[in-house]
Amino acid sequence: MASVILQTRGLTKTYAGVTANTDVDFDLPAGQIRALIGPNGAGKSTFVGMLCGRIEATRGTVSFDGQDISHLPAHRRIALGIAYTFQITSVFAGLSVHENVALAARRAGGSAARVADVLNRVGLADRAGQVAGDLSYGHQRILEIGMGLAQNPRLFILDEPTQGLAESEIADFKALITGLKDTTILLIEHNMSVVMETAQYITVLNQGQILAEGTPDQIRADTHVQAAYLGTEDA
Ligand SMILES: Nc1ncnc2c1ncn2[C@@H]1O[C@H](COP(=O)(O)OP(=O)(O)OP(=O)(O)O)[C@@H](O)[C@H]1O
Ligand SMILES: [Mg+2]
Repeated sequence: MASVILQTRGLTKTYAGVTANTDVDFDLPAGQIRALIGPNGAGKSTFVGMLCGRIEATRGTVSFDGQDISHLPAHRRIALGIAYTFQITSVFAGLSVHENVALAARRAGGSAARVADVLNRVGLADRAGQVAGDLSYGHQRILEIGMGLAQNPRLFILDEPTQGLAESEIADFKALITGLKDTTILLIEHNMSVVMETAQYITVLNQGQILAEGTPDQIRADTHVQAAYLGTEDA
């Protein structure tokens, strides 16, 4: 088995009275595409927020490549190679598409030479000069993915990247994600076709805890998962 690039132990988050994650032990092998699924409010965004350093854990540890990063601020985690896109789109609306991607590349200490390459890969090359705030919602989401890729991440965390995308854009997204080499991916996704077609392994979160983990086939066949989640999905 590949080495574990990301590991959590006992990871817990309590917001004033609300426990969003309880004692999550999670192992992600290097190079894997992992989907993180679960009902609304299961604690998925909180979990990845603690991985990338945006949300401070109440207790527990996060290790990346064997190093305890539990107390590193977000920018230090980015410098180590952890990129993430938010559930809520967060491009710089007043800057051009090109400038957004260039800023992201620089944030990770990378060169701006990647920008043209990234814009080509995500299909935004012909909009490079456009002001990001003028893009459609779907294109803004794609721009965010490009901003993550520009950081040349070792671990790329995406929080519901296909939400609001058109079918053709979702198809392009699947191809983009499965075509990435040397990047470990943790993907929060409600769209089951994206999950089942891109993920090698799935973690199901329910009420802040891991309910099940397995291959797409195993998760599809899991009656506990069906009861908690899949049965209620219309996707
Ligand atoms: N800043 C906050 N303050 C208080 N409670 C919060 C905060 N953020 C999240 N929560 C609560 O923590 C729980 C987990 O929320 P979280 O956003 O992590 O779930 P999620 O699985 O990402 O849900 P969704 O699928 O709707 O995005 C929910 O009960 C939510 O209301
Ligand atoms: Mg969420």
